[in-house]
Amino acid sequence: MNPLPLHRKMFRLIPVLFIVITGVAYAACAPPKSPAPTPTPTVAPTASPRYLDPNAPIEERVADLLARMTLDEKIGQMTQAERSAIDADVTAIARYGIGSILSGGGSAPSPNTPEAWADMYDRYQKQALSTRLGIPLIYGIDAVHGHNNVRGAVVFPHNIGLGATRDPQLAEEIGRITALEVAGTGIDWTFSPCVAVPQDERWGRTYEGFSEDPELVATMAVALIRGYQGDDLSSSTTILATAKHYVGDGGTAYGTGVRGGLDQGDMRVDEATLRRIHLAPYVAAVDAGVGSIMASFSSWNGQKMHGNRYLLTDVLRGELGFRGLVVSDWQAIDQLPGDYRSDVKTAINAGIDMVMVPYDYVAFINTLRQLVNDGEVPMERIDEAVGRILWAKFALGLFERPYTDRTLTSRIGAPEHREVARRAVRQSLVLLRNENNLLPLPKNLNRIVVAGLHADNLGYQCGGWTITWQGGSGDITEGTTILQAIRNAVSAGTKVDYAPDGTGASGADVGIVVVGETPYAEFEGDRHDLTLSPDDLRTIQNVKAAGVPVVVILITGRPLIIEPELENWDALLVAWLPGTEGQGVADVLFGDYAPTGKLPYTWPRTMEQIPINIGDSDYDPLFPYGFGLSYPGR
Ligand code: GLC
Repeated sequence: MNPLPLHRKMFRLIPVLFIVITGVAYAACAPPKSPAPTPTPTVAPTASPRYLDPNAPIEERVADLLARMTLDEKIGQMTQAERSAIDADVTAIARYGIGSILSGGGSAPSPNTPEAWADMYDRYQKQALSTRLGIPLIYGIDAVHGHNNVRGAVVFPHNIGLGATRDPQLAEEIGRITALEVAGTGIDWTFSPCVAVPQDERWGRTYEGFSEDPELVATMAVALIRGYQGDDLSSSTTILATAKHYVGDGGTAYGTGVRGGLDQGDMRVDEATLRRIHLAPYVAAVDAGVGSIMASFSSWNGQKMHGNRYLLTDVLRGELGFRGLVVSDWQAIDQLPGDYRSDVKTAINAGIDMVMVPYDYVAFINTLRQLVNDGEVPMERIDEAVGRILWAKFALGLFERPYTDRTLTSRIGAPEHREVARRAVRQSLVLLRNENNLLPLPKNLNRIVVAGLHADNLGYQCGGWTITWQGGSGDITEGTTILQAIRNAVSAGTKVDYAPDGTGASGADVGIVVVGETPYAEFEGDRHDLTLSPDDLRTIQNVKAAGVPVVVILITGRPLIIEPELENWDALLVAWLPGTEGQGVADVLFGDYAPTGKLPYTWPRTMEQIPINIGDSDYDPLFPYGFGLSYPGR
């Protein structure tokens, strides 16, 4: 059952009421030709304003509030500032009527504890509620694999691993838990799910995508959206979801992106391809009632998405019927051609409703006010954007419940949440090779040697977008490393030695070598060479040279080039970026769970084959899309 049909019905009513009520308001506060301050609209005083009546239909609350707002109050709602830009003087929130705050990747209070996050959120919210109309803030964050900025929160496998599970029910459960943990810090809005359909694994955001297959992306994205938004967006444990980055972020051409890579580059395809591959997940997300969409940094055939009115308004609104809010990406409107004034004009008129400024919000506010006063951005466009933003705030219940529900704060990182994450890890692992049925391993071997720099490194196994934007190394948060998980799983008599470089393995029953990519995010992860590092290859070789069977576990945000070495590996398990619950890897290694994961991306033989995707004519990968072994008889 689509949990959110109400959104669609309500959204359809808003424009009608806009015209009726805001027509009156427009006459009262139409932008003067000269830059005189806009008068406060004259609306008949009532005992209790309609917009504050929780029983009134949302569209009536929106229309009533809009009619009371000045131009500056409206523009403030369209402004999203980074927390670091206001944290030193939170009164700026009230002074400028800022409608939204975000945490960019890793932007956290100190100490980074759930309680400190909740205190920070409530401190900001108090400022917003002190304004003339008391419009609450909406706070956004990249909770993209759990509440990953917060120390102690459960970090789930990144989307590439969820794609390998092919389990939408699991994804919905992960969304529900993530929403609860996010809400436990007060925050209302996640910039997730990424519904990119990555076509070229050299892209640093491949792991943020579920798959190269738009159908699998749509299925998993809808499940996460349902988990985040639930059946009742006004519940204290649900948050607003964001489908991103609209549209075609995963289809850019190599060499057109940042620093000659792919990220933020130019997608050079015809419209039929854009619709078939990259738009399809948005059709599903909109039908599932996603509350917001983030525009993409990237371009389509040379036009920046943030200025593409055809796709942002005609297609997204007119064809797909999206009624939620469109937020820009980080400082993305600045990349539009022309000066800042033309950037703001182009983006707002194209269909951006809220601008992630994120720092110089005063410049944004002044620029947009001038554009409206000069008649270059119509007041109808402002009212349309602000109406969508207000609708989200009413739907979230922020006017009735603006502060953190502290009963949720202590549930962040709960054991039952970690169990779900462990299950997700188990289901995400893909077994690509298992010579002589080496796996599963007995739990009572004499001696196991574990090797590789990724075996005992929580930061590495979480990947990017974890505690910091780029991710980190070592004990960056709470969790279980793969080495710890192996030690937890085996019997007391089994000796488990850790040899980071793989030396000293002779005499062991088996060598388990955990290698792969170190964390990265966005353009920092664009690579032209996807082979394993010489150190990783040397580590594997050291174990092999000791004459023991070798199990290779890859920690990676994408398929890597491994064909030359593969025949020397007895078993190969791909763990992707599993997150904090490494015990799920041991569950598969020792047979408590037989691997069920299937490749969500085609696994190329060589760099020269990339891009290579299912459906290509000359399709000859090392492992095809959907490939994955299991254990004999399981
Ligand atoms: C980043 C990313 C986007 C993220 C936003 C806020 O640049 O492109 O995915 O949601 O900024 O952190």
